[in-house]
Amino acid sequence: MFESVAARPNDPIMVVMEQCKADTRPEKIDLGVGVYKDASGNTAILKSVKMAEQMWGREETTKTYVGTIGNQDYCQDMLELMLGKDSAVLTEGRVGAAQTAGGSGALRLGAEVLKVAAPDATVWASTPTWANHIPLITDAGMRMDSYPYYNRETLGVDFEDMLSHLDTHAKRGDIVLLHGCCHNPTGADLSPAQWDRLAPFMAERGLFPFIDLAYFGLGRGMDEDTYGLRKVIETCPEVLLAASCSKNFALYRERTGLIAAITQTADKAAALKSQFGAIQRKLISMPPDHGAAIVTRILRDESLRNIWVGELDEMRERMLGLRQLLSDAMNVQGGEAMAAAIKNQNGMFSTLPLSPDHAARLREEHAVYLMPSGRINIAGANTSNIPRLAEAILAVL
Ligand code: LMR
Repeated sequence: MFESVAARPNDPIMVVMEQCKADTRPEKIDLGVGVYKDASGNTAILKSVKMAEQMWGREETTKTYVGTIGNQDYCQDMLELMLGKDSAVLTEGRVGAAQTAGGSGALRLGAEVLKVAAPDATVWASTPTWANHIPLITDAGMRMDSYPYYNRETLGVDFEDMLSHLDTHAKRGDIVLLHGCCHNPTGADLSPAQWDRLAPFMAERGLFPFIDLAYFGLGRGMDEDTYGLRKVIETCPEVLLAASCSKNFALYRERTGLIAAITQTADKAAALKSQFGAIQRKLISMPPDHGAAIVTRILRDESLRNIWVGELDEMRERMLGLRQLLSDAMNVQGGEAMAAAIKNQNGMFSTLPLSPDHAARLREEHAVYLMPSGRINIAGANTSNIPRLAEAILAVL
């Protein structure tokens, strides 16, 4: 049976994660996989999460099934967090949502629903985009293509090229996949003024927004990080939203995500919710409960929520501080463009003008781990190793 089955290469992010784990050099710097690390290099469980788990442990009375659409209190709380409590689409009942197995589960469920709704449409993704976007969406049967986004020379967004490419090549009913904030892998986000232009541009051309919001709260702040999402929802009649609690609640392995369809009527929202349930049933039957139960507990308890907000602020501020330090250390001859980009980009990632060869030399000669694409996760650095990191990057260049 298995004679013809060959081993498959691992996802490059997982490859770098394994390589770094196996390296015994104590000075190694891990800028690979997108997980937050504190100043000691640990990905700790948040205090708010620990406290919620303890309470939940005492109160939980059953492990029976929750259902194919998962925990609906969690969906409501997450939607209020992202869209605002008074969001018109929520009060009008125009959102159908399901809990998913992480942000990846949400993207997959979103793509499966697109296959039902618009099987002949193309999903347009930024160049570059998160590597896993492509298999998650194409395996659901959707065709994908790409629009220009990140300029590896200016290290900024080529916004005019993005608009003109979509204008020329995307057809009415096509889907545009957008990173709501903290673009992965580049950290280069659209400005509020660019979202203000993009939203009506998409509405006028009948382009359908599919927004991936995996890092909200970790860029510039909750309001800033949800600006684009809210603008698009205000402007476009229908939207798909995939969200994740992996990073902002540090719930990574608990696989806690959400898919939501913003529709034109409450009836359609109910139809979309039932689609999510039916599709999830055939893929994984139903999402795991634990992470969603913890998030709901935190968001509904004022004191836990305040602790969480403080922890989220601390993670974000630490990354902004590291960006500033690395930027200062790189602001020497030949490093000015990188210095400016590192400071202005958002969230965990920046993509530097480094080739796979540069990445290999950084790994071999300097024990610095980053993606072959030049993506770094700033949270993997710390105040004491930043000078060495800046020197190493400038040395291989
Ligand atoms: C990343 O981009 O490194 C993270 O989102 C982790 C992952 O699953 O790829």
